[in-house]
Amino acid sequence: MKPETILETQALTMRFGGLTAVGNFSAAITRGSIVGLIGPNGAGKTTCFNMITGFYTPTQGKVIFQGREITGKKPYLVCKSGIARTFQNIRLFKNETVLENVMIGCHLRQKTTWWHALFSLPASLREEKAIKEKSLDLLEVVGLRDLAGEKSTSLPYGAQRRLEIARALATDPAFLLLDEPAAGMNPNETRDLMAFIRQIRDRFRLTILLIEHDMKVVMGICEHIWVLDYGETIAEGSPDQIKADPKVIEAYLGEEAVQSA
Ligand SMILES: Nc1ncnc2c1ncn2[C@@H]1O[C@H](COP(=O)(O)OP(=O)(O)OP(=O)(O)O)[C@@H](O)[C@H]1O
Ligand SMILES: [Mg+2]
Repeated sequence: MKPETILETQALTMRFGGLTAVGNFSAAITRGSIVGLIGPNGAGKTTCFNMITGFYTPTQGKVIFQGREITGKKPYLVCKSGIARTFQNIRLFKNETVLENVMIGCHLRQKTTWWHALFSLPASLREEKAIKEKSLDLLEVVGLRDLAGEKSTSLPYGAQRRLEIARALATDPAFLLLDEPAAGMNPNETRDLMAFIRQIRDRFRLTILLIEHDMKVVMGICEHIWVLDYGETIAEGSPDQIKADPKVIEAYLGEEAVQSA
């Protein structure tokens, strides 16, 4: 069977005044794969995520998800269509508990509305209970169930990253974008994270696009990689092709990480 493309970007471009943060980014991502977007600091990686997820409206180009164009749609609608993300700078609801942070993700798919809740109608109570159970299950998946009642900000950094992933999963995505999931993690946490990313891909039948500076993570779990430098796509291919690409080695000059990964 021919691999199916789940998400496609066509010449996505984002300009900020005179700066082209991303120029003509075209990628076709196969359903069920784990793929990576890499490049030096400021290369335009997060900007690509922001264009795909509706946080930025691209200056030019298209985003096509499951055969439908979603370019320029609001983040909420992009998420509803089945795309979830985490953020480079963790964005949790600071005053809420670990459990509440995941429940907030579930509310995207809620069927009953505020007035059902206002009158404590049975449908609303039932749904709230189901949301709580689903959230606790997701916390179990990410290994945080025992900490459900804690304030989200009291968690160590690595756990906050996993909580963000649980909240993203709560929206029932088909496509998950992770912006530097290993940032701030120690080597053990990073190794666990790699196994965890594969597990959630299989369990939730996801396609995952990740941005990551840790080359061991990228080369270890990504089937296909795109490399940006100053907003331009300088290479695309398998981990082995990327590691051997002179343009990539040059872009990372001084960083031996690419070759030794
Ligand atoms: N909202 C914005 N307004 C102006 N310039 C922006 C904006 N967002 C990003 N940029 C610029 O676009 C370029 C790409 O930024 P981006 O955050 O996408 O890089 P990145 O590859 O994610 O880098 P890093 O590895 O440091 O996270 C940078 O020069 C950045 O300053
Ligand atoms: Mg970034």
